Amino acid sequence: MQTVYALQQEILRLKKEHDIAILAHSYQTHDILEVADLTGDSFALSAAAAKLPQKTVLMCGVRFMAETVKLLSPDKTVLLSASQAGCPMAEQMSKESIAQYRREHPDHAVVAYINTTAELKTVCDVCVTSSSAVSIVSKLPQKDVLFIPDCNLGAFVAAACPDKNVILMKGGCPVHTAVTPEEAAAAKAAHPDALLLCHPECLPAVTAQADMAGSTADIMRFARESDRKEFIIGTENSIVEHLQYECPDKRFYPMSKGLICTDMKLTTLSDVYRAVSGDGGEEIVLPPETMQKARACIDRMLELG
Ligand code: 13P
Ligand code: SF4
Repeated sequence: MQTVYALQQEILRLKKEHDIAILAHSYQTHDILEVADLTGDSFALSAAAAKLPQKTVLMCGVRFMAETVKLLSPDKTVLLSASQAGCPMAEQMSKESIAQYRREHPDHAVVAYINTTAELKTVCDVCVTSSSAVSIVSKLPQKDVLFIPDCNLGAFVAAACPDKNVILMKGGCPVHTAVTPEEAAAAKAAHPDALLLCHPECLPAVTAQADMAGSTADIMRFARESDRKEFIIGTENSIVEHLQYECPDKRFYPMSKGLICTDMKLTTLSDVYRAVSGDGGEEIVLPPETMQKARACIDRMLELG
């Protein structure tokens, strides 16, 4: 049986031989991060991938992330590490229902969180990430803004943009919303010297208890740069592990043991090995109209961001 180290060495050799760049979202396991060319949040990875010299990119994450890579790198071959890995939130709203909303409210802006399918982005005005949502919504010319799909991030944006009328639908991340306010309070009570760093996909009553709320990248940056020594991590539990490796002199605790995204964990090191061997991964192919319209939604984010 091959050790993890031996498999990683083989992956590093094969990705070079086959001119493949590996992108790993921060919710992937540490053994996958160790063989990646780039790690980070969903948007940062897609933007950076476009500048890489490799012609093929393997996205270790979920489907909407691989689609975003393809939208920003149309001439590259983009592979998704595990075909079944989808983000349930990205698929919560149908393109038809949002197109219908637009017909009924032509003067409203429709804002899509980056965690949406490329198909859904085709009927939205602008995309946002969890770190750019507040600043982009505040810059929109429209007063009425439909924010989809995450009603928790939407509520966070609404509170920060009192001049806007932010309209929400019933959507959200099943992993982050499963954490109760009582669990957050119990984590704080168990670690009274720790700061609670929370993703705004959590329920408002959880995020309200945080010392800092932000995207995965914001949370990691804050923890690295802070003078404080203890942190409760209010997002997917891989972040606890990665930060503990990076900052051995600090202590990181999960806000909840349940903060595990099973879709993000569908990719294994063996999947990565198969993909760089040319025997795995699903190539992302999007229809030309989807490429053009969904890209326009992302380009608007870059203009306003
Ligand atoms: P980021 O955009 O912060 O990487 O978040 C992705 C995600 O799926 C959060 O649950
Ligand atoms: Fe989707 Fe939630 Fe998993 Fe992020 S943590 S990929 S939003 S299901």
